[in-house]
Amino acid sequence: MFKETTQSCDLVIFGTKGDLSRRKLLPALYKLEKFKKIHPNTRIIGAARANWNKEEYKKIVKKSIKEFLNENFNENIWKQLSVRLHFINIDVNEELCFIELKKILDQTKNINIYYCAVPPNNFNAIFKGLGKINLNILPSRIIIEKPIGTCFYTCEKINNQMSKYFLESQIFRIDHYLGKESILNILSLRFSNSLFFHNWNYKIIDHVQITVSEEVGIEGRWNYFNQIGQTRDMVQNHLLQILTIIAMDPPKNIQPKSIQNEKIKILKNLKTIDINNINTKTVRGQYTSGNINGRKIPSYLEENNTNKTSETETFVSIKVEIENKKWHGVPFYLRTGKRLAHKYSEIVIFFKKTPVNLFSKYNKNLPLNKLILQLEPNENIKIDLLKKLPGLYEIYQLEDNRIKSNYFNKNNENKIDAYERLLLESMKGVQSLFVSREEIETAWKWIDPIINAWKITKKNTLQLYKPGTSGPKISDQMLIQDGRYWNKFDLN
Ligand code: BG6
Repeated sequence: MFKETTQSCDLVIFGTKGDLSRRKLLPALYKLEKFKKIHPNTRIIGAARANWNKEEYKKIVKKSIKEFLNENFNENIWKQLSVRLHFINIDVNEELCFIELKKILDQTKNINIYYCAVPPNNFNAIFKGLGKINLNILPSRIIIEKPIGTCFYTCEKINNQMSKYFLESQIFRIDHYLGKESILNILSLRFSNSLFFHNWNYKIIDHVQITVSEEVGIEGRWNYFNQIGQTRDMVQNHLLQILTIIAMDPPKNIQPKSIQNEKIKILKNLKTIDINNINTKTVRGQYTSGNINGRKIPSYLEENNTNKTSETETFVSIKVEIENKKWHGVPFYLRTGKRLAHKYSEIVIFFKKTPVNLFSKYNKNLPLNKLILQLEPNENIKIDLLKKLPGLYEIYQLEDNRIKSNYFNKNNENKIDAYERLLLESMKGVQSLFVSREEIETAWKWIDPIINAWKITKKNTLQLYKPGTSGPKISDQMLIQDGRYWNKFDLN
């Protein structure tokens, strides 16, 4: 049964031949079809430079879905999805092509949604092309995805170009981490449980660690990645988004604007990192050649045949401080890198020690309680507590005890991909899981001084690390000098 959630839309996917569309968007649409979340009248219009007719496009879509779907392909679901598919051969620099697109869109009264799954140098041509023939007017929506700029200036430029044609309420900026279940769960966990609601500040929390460790390298994306590096690729967006959701004050309500406003306050309060403190607050690294699980891994520089001198970082860790009362003295340690030992991501909240250790006779140093929100390889919530060691030991001998709750059911049947959620929300027209202009620009304003400081100190700061490790040793030092350690990866 169709649930009254999404509106009847014409979803135009610009760049439907590309990786994002094939790997993520088309399989996500198949899953939404399976869960009966797409309005019966919704159409999907692939747009790309190709001489395909509708039937040829359908064949290509079917192949992509089969290739990238993480479950068995079902012909009945495909049948329902395939009737929605249309295709238009489009050169985004050609005005005539948009007129052809308009003819297709005018066939229905559906809400037009334009997904720009194209490199950013094509964004403006799409905005203009749509704007010229009034395809930009309300209630249409536009979706864009990173990289939205490479610094504040270039991000502002894209936003200005877009805002010539679209209102902020029409713009859906994707950060796919915001569609991940365990990230979505942070707000529920924080604001529906009094246990956490009342204990979420500097009085109770010692520090926070956010780790996004990747086993993959740059996956053939040298030209993109070498200009960007891990900080702009991962921290500016995904890690800062996680940080703001962990640190923000309770929003007035769950309306998109209220949530975004609280996140912006945190971004504005991040302590500046620049040339004056870059060496104590950041570690940047690049992988050498080595092995991961017996597989030979080329060094970052060997990923490309021509450029052997790049200073681009493939690893970064940053000690972030938030200059407000709530988080006074509570560091947020971020780290992320490519070619590390595992695909492993987690957010760890370390709670402060009790003021007195009543049990010091048998337990000199009580470990800190931890709340671990694990994103990869499995999504779950773990809480580390101390309890009495059972049995005829000394009465007050303690042991560490882990309480674990799996996020999904046993066979992961209720597991959904971030793009399923984000496409669904865009079809509903709800912006809470999308990034506002102010958020993204404020994030760049904080990142820019870090990148600039590295440019000045570049030669001294790049640390080499072996694939299959947890990054440069000096990243451990950053915590050790504060009397802390990175949480050990626990893959379960
Ligand atoms: C993308 C980055 O945004 O996120 C990639 O461009 C990175 O470099 C990817 O590998 C990681 O996403 P996920 O969902 O696999 O953690």
